[in-house]
Amino acid sequence: NTYDYGPLGVELMRNIQDLWWKRFVLKRPDIYGVNTSILMNRRVWEASGHVENFTDPLVECLSCHKRFRADHLKDKERCPECGGKLTEPKMFQGMFKTHVGATEDKGAEIFLRPETAQGMFVNFKNILDSIHPKLPFGLAQIGKGFRNEITLGNFIFRTLEFDMMEIEYFVEEKNWEKTFELWKEEMWSWLIDLGLDKKKLSWREHSEKERAHYSKRTEDIEYEFPFGRSELYGLAYRGDYDLRNHSEKSGVDLKYYPPDGEPFYPHVVEPTFGANRTLLVILLESYKKDEKRVYLKLDPKLAPYKVAVFPLLANKEDLVDMAYSIYKDLLVAFPAVFDDRGNIGKRYFAQDEIGTPWCVTVDFDSLKDKTVTVRDRDTMAQERVLVDNLKDYILNRIS
Ligand code: GAP
Repeated sequence: NTYDYGPLGVELMRNIQDLWWKRFVLKRPDIYGVNTSILMNRRVWEASGHVENFTDPLVECLSCHKRFRADHLKDKERCPECGGKLTEPKMFQGMFKTHVGATEDKGAEIFLRPETAQGMFVNFKNILDSIHPKLPFGLAQIGKGFRNEITLGNFIFRTLEFDMMEIEYFVEEKNWEKTFELWKEEMWSWLIDLGLDKKKLSWREHSEKERAHYSKRTEDIEYEFPFGRSELYGLAYRGDYDLRNHSEKSGVDLKYYPPDGEPFYPHVVEPTFGANRTLLVILLESYKKDEKRVYLKLDPKLAPYKVAVFPLLANKEDLVDMAYSIYKDLLVAFPAVFDDRGNIGKRYFAQDEIGTPWCVTVDFDSLKDKTVTVRDRDTMAQERVLVDNLKDYILNRIS
């Protein structure tokens, strides 16, 4: 259960991550970006509690031998697939193990990170010493996490490796509740600005049993997926659990030194946005189908190509040359694509399916009056635009 992203998927994913980075890092005075290692010393994961606690209860059916997460099952005794009897739950380590160096003994064993968070906690002192931020402030990171999930499936909803967009927001203890509420609003408005349907989104608070070992309060934003209501993002209050543990286990002082007053461990509010789940809900919400066609109603900011350029006929050199030169000119300003296969109708439908907001056609009139037809993906309406104005026309519509 891993997925590869092709030329269009990778652009859609980059656009999502770029929007997120701009919004939560570049346009904020209080959040700093980092990029930390996937492979870290095993002792990081001992200090963080993951070696001991990042485990799931696994049961196996004695008849069909399928495996399930015991905490996902309603009936703990019987297999949900064949009705067979289930084994007693066994705890199962959720981190992938690998080895550093030539030997494969315990000492060389390390883990692939299951969250990007720990890389930010262990860099806390470096950030204080180099950037000198004042509380409250946040660290942000986009990167891969790896989890040896027992139950997989539902397309890219739950996979073994995935991209997360994560923020550790450091505050004084007395301010954690206020900060938690602020991040609830931030996470919600990010989704609304992406164009998601409010009615499909809701908050759900974790019960004490459900919460991760580090968390004192967790709320998920859930989305009504076609396979049921499920977690889209998580917001956790981690207290001072991580900084305190890393400090105590490594001997490195990870306290914050306020300009006046005693040093202390800041408390952490952590909003985590799954990038692949974001891409999944965007696909789900953008997919439109009517009697005539299938189209992907992507926000132009997210669309892999902003515009496609066609010559009306592929075998008329003048049309092809003019279309190709318009395409090259637009490509300087934003992602564009050139297509001369099949007929115009088929090209429109092909671009509709991948969410290209506008198609530009060069026809015989274009050669005379230097205008082209711009066709809109959503309304299918067409208008003539001067070639000289085309770039600004598209830029205006994107923004
Ligand atoms: N540092 C906090 C943390 O890791 P989490 O709720 O375990 O929290 C955060 O994971 C987010 O990562 C989830 O809300 C979800 O969007 C995404 N995610 C978690 N496991 C995933 C998986 N196996 N496949 C795809 N996305 C996943």
